[in-house]
Order: sequence, then C-alpha cells, then structure tokens
Amino acid sequence: MKLYLDTANIEEIREAVRWGVIDGVTTNPSLAAKESESFNEILPAICDLVDGPVSAEVIAMDYEEILKEARILAKVHDNVVVKIPVMPEGLRAVKTLAGEGIKVNVTLIFSANQALLAMKAGAAYVSPFIGRLDDIGHRGVELVRDIVNLIEWHSLKSEVIAASIRHPEHVPAVALAGSHIATLPFKVLKQMFRHPLTDLGIESFISDWKKAGKEL
Ligand code: E4P
Repeated sequence: MKLYLDTANIEEIREAVRWGVIDGVTTNPSLAAKESESFNEILPAICDLVDGPVSAEVIAMDYEEILKEARILAKVHDNVVVKIPVMPEGLRAVKTLAGEGIKVNVTLIFSANQALLAMKAGAAYVSPFIGRLDDIGHRGVELVRDIVNLIEWHSLKSEVIAASIRHPEHVPAVALAGSHIATLPFKVLKQMFRHPLTDLGIESFISDWKKAGKEL
C-alpha cells in the first residue's frame, strides 16, 4: 500500500520526503487555508518536493467552471491530480477530463454507490473518508473493503485512497482491507514510527554497550 501525506504544509512534506516513505500528497481547501502562502505558491512547491501524484482540489460547483479550474491545476505539473467532489456536475467534468488524459481523484466519498458512479465516470482515484464515517458511528474501513471488492470483481481501473485517517491503527486496517493508498496527516505518520518497546529497546542496547566499554 502506498502512503501519501495529507497536508498543504511544505515543511511537513519536506520532512516526510526526507524519511523516504512518501509516495504522494493530497491537499484540500481546508488544509490549504491553514497555510500563510497562496495555493499558487504551494502547489508547484509540493510538486518539486514529491516524486508522485499531488491532489489539488477545485472549488467550483458547475461543470464549465470545474473544467476551467481543473485545466489550470493540471497545467502546474505533470504529477497534479485534480480533486473533484462527488456530485453530478463534478462527475460530468470527470468524464470530460479523463477523456483529455487528466487524472481525477473523486473526493468526499461516503458510500459504495458514490464510488461506483465516480469510477464509471472515469476517476483515476476514489477517496472514501473513513474518519468522518467513524465519527457518525459508521464503519469507515468496511467502506474501503467494499470499494476494493467492487474494483476487483468488476476489473475496474480506479485506485482507492483511504482518506480522513485519524489514528495509526487506521493504517494497517485499511491496508488489510486492500486499499491501494492511504493518505495520512503528518501527526499520524510520525505516530506510526513509535512504540514504547522500541524506545526501551534502544535505551537498553546503548546503555549495555556503554557499560561494557565497547567501541565500533
Ligand atoms: C483527503 O483527501 C482529505 O482531504 C482528508 O483526508 C480529509 O480528512 P479530515 O476528515 O480529517 O478532514
């Protein structure tokens, strides 16, 4: 399973890329709004840092405007994937853009039906929001599993990006559900490295080595 970083913060992306574990980035308007730079500055900077797909979301709601924004975003860099919410005008635009060779990540997916429609329109990626489903008492990971099964049973081409990940345990859960990609907040990526037994183990290895007066 590929790991993307879900942020528009350049420093977080720079750090995660340095660790060698990041395959792409997803952003959304709320994440971009937290940053002081304009999105026009942020998007090319992210594309320069990351060797992989970078999702950038349209704000428009009607077909023509979505196409206009999507084409502008797609021109920024070959790795840009246009992110469009699942809605009729959006899916109409997905079909047109897919025909032009522009990859689209259909976002805000909360049901298998929405995923089916998005994939039928030609979405390269579908993003089920698992944390937001868990928040209202549904099972986000089960939706990921259902969409992966739909793709396999019907030989569809789209990839699933498990999104709205809230904690480290979501990551192996969506991997075991067959997700192709998980997109993580920087905080969750950092938490994935940590285990108290690893910290204790490192501490005791170093102190045993020093006590014995050994050198490399
Ligand atoms: C990913 O594409 C989404 O932008 C993101 O994962 C949403 O996460 P949230 O529910 O924590 O806002």
